[in-house]
Amino acid sequence: MSSIAIHQPAAQAVQQSAHALELRDLRKSFGKTEIIRGANLAVNAGERVAIIGPNGAGKSTLFNLISGRFEPSSGEVLLHGQRIDGKKPFEINRMGLSRSFQITNIFPKLSVFENLRCSVLWSLGYRYSFWRFLSNLHDANERANELMEMIGLHRKRDTLAVNLTYAEQRALEIGITIGGGASVILLDEPTAGMSNSETAHFIQLIKKVTEGKTLLTVEHDMGVVFGLADKIAVVVYGEVIAYDTPEAVRANARVQEAYLGSSVADQQAGAH
Ligand SMILES: Nc1ncnc2c1ncn2[C@@H]1O[C@H](COP(=O)(O)OP(=O)(O)OP(=O)(O)O)[C@@H](O)[C@H]1O
Ligand SMILES: [Mg+2]
Repeated sequence: MSSIAIHQPAAQAVQQSAHALELRDLRKSFGKTEIIRGANLAVNAGERVAIIGPNGAGKSTLFNLISGRFEPSSGEVLLHGQRIDGKKPFEINRMGLSRSFQITNIFPKLSVFENLRCSVLWSLGYRYSFWRFLSNLHDANERANELMEMIGLHRKRDTLAVNLTYAEQRALEIGITIGGGASVILLDEPTAGMSNSETAHFIQLIKKVTEGKTLLTVEHDMGVVFGLADKIAVVVYGEVIAYDTPEAVRANARVQEAYLGSSVADQQAGAH
């Protein structure tokens, strides 16, 4: 008993003082080539962060390091103050971080509802024997229904994922990503391949489903970035060269020079 009484306040203190996600001098080499070159970032809980940067800058690699798909060469990754570098993806997922992929990651031969229920079941702890209990799992069914409403696919409940439109598949993927109840969500180019109107709709959906959560999203469309993000992290050549509010990043000379170029000046000129 006494050890619980002693340890609990300490654990809470760590949680309260910690960032939702933190990268400390993170590095990753493939062979002799260093791709991530000392990345630092500290994201507060509940913030929506857009990660921008040129092709090949290392954005997806950062996500692979954070989510445990790759092991860093050196440096630290902390989730709510706890080290997660070196842990397996499923361990990190259980600790509350969930990611989607640049490539759609759903079960094509399962229905919308079944896809969502799988993601919920996983988080509820029905890992290997869940198929025996499916029909009785009211909590999982309820949560899957809620998710389906949230992502606007309730009318497609029994449609196989393979038969959905591309935009619907991406919506389903978001549902699967948040289905496990993670508090930190990583989305890699969620609007890639969408039309302008689909993108606008999708951004509203992302805002809604990530309410109260910490979101990191890689995004190339500057309209989306400035509409969605509380903060922008600019990744250039394996480093986070700026991390600030959209207004401050717009005004940052180093960012303009390294990445955004004249388009920012043009946007600003257009706005005045
Ligand atoms: N598994 C790997 N092995 C070797 N090199 C890799 C590996 N993964 C990524 N790279 C290299 O790391 C660099 C960064 O790639 P990454 O995919 O992280 O860029 P990105 O910023 O996501 O680009 P994009 O905007 O095009 O998606 C690239 O030069 C890429 O070729
Ligand atoms: Mg990428």
